[in-house]
Amino acid sequence: MKTEILRLLRETDGYISGQELCDKFQVSRTAVWKVMNQLKEEGYEIEAVRNKGYTIVSSPDVMSKKEIESLMQTEFMGRNVVYYDETDSTNTRIKRLAEEGAPDGTLVVADKQVAGKGRRGRAWESPSGEAVFMSILLKPEMLPIKAPMLTLLFAYSTACAIREKEELNVRIKWPNDIVLHKKKVCGILTEMSTEIDYINYVVIGIGINVNNQTFPEDLKDKATSLGLEKKERVMRSELIAAIMMQFEEHYALFLKTQDLSGIQQGYNSLLVNADERVKVLEPGNEYEAHAEGINELGELVVRKDDGTIENVFAGEVSVRGIYGYV
Ligand code: BTN
Repeated sequence: MKTEILRLLRETDGYISGQELCDKFQVSRTAVWKVMNQLKEEGYEIEAVRNKGYTIVSSPDVMSKKEIESLMQTEFMGRNVVYYDETDSTNTRIKRLAEEGAPDGTLVVADKQVAGKGRRGRAWESPSGEAVFMSILLKPEMLPIKAPMLTLLFAYSTACAIREKEELNVRIKWPNDIVLHKKKVCGILTEMSTEIDYINYVVIGIGINVNNQTFPEDLKDKATSLGLEKKERVMRSELIAAIMMQFEEHYALFLKTQDLSGIQQGYNSLLVNADERVKVLEPGNEYEAHAEGINELGELVVRKDDGTIENVFAGEVSVRGIYGYV
């Protein structure tokens, strides 16, 4: 009932009367009053006005199953929420849940990870109380070769959600880092379980620097957080719900064509590398080129100095700006 009351308070413009809540949930006035007090203790600012009812003035930056569920507005994406105050890695957790039959669109969120994984076998620093660590489970019916496109799709959805909700001018560094003022704010790690010609499941894990105020010495110049740039606290559960909403919409487009044509233009408009010189780091073959943008398969189209066009595939190579990370 608490989750439902919270959802109603959020969805109601103005006040919702105590009587309406009693009728809706078939409970006494005292029961409603108790729930309001519990919410206040958890940090929600709730105003009660005689003859009008209750209204929610502000929410704290809490992450919990209840909080995330009460904000979720999707059809199926992120509707099954599994939340941990602390876990090893949300990617590891969700893979276990997938093996046990968890449904498509399951979302695992943690406040802290003790064995957070980054790309290329690196660790992902995961302290509590400030960031978002989450993984989504997908079961698309398609060839495994197409799965890397989902990472770009998720990066684009996250960037759209941050831009719309937080009004921050984040952009994408191909293929899937999200950057703000040339510093990284999100990293994505996609893993999958496949047979030769079909996908059992795909797991997309994302770490977002949300309210981090400091970074380890080696990351200081390369990383930033949304809160640091916005100069105010960002509500993590609201952000998660906004990302799920964007991703559900873009995923539906993706499934129709099984490529990125539905988001290609939008993605390219956010691409920091577009129309820039980049260094392509292909194993055994490094070269500079002019980046044009992604094609509908998510490959980065680059023009070499001799005029030839190459399509760079994300799984094999990475790209740097010629003066540094971006
Ligand atoms: C990168 O190296 O840029 C990717 C980092 C991905 C980190 C996220 S945090 C949530 C999920 N669980 C993990 O263990 N890793 C991903």
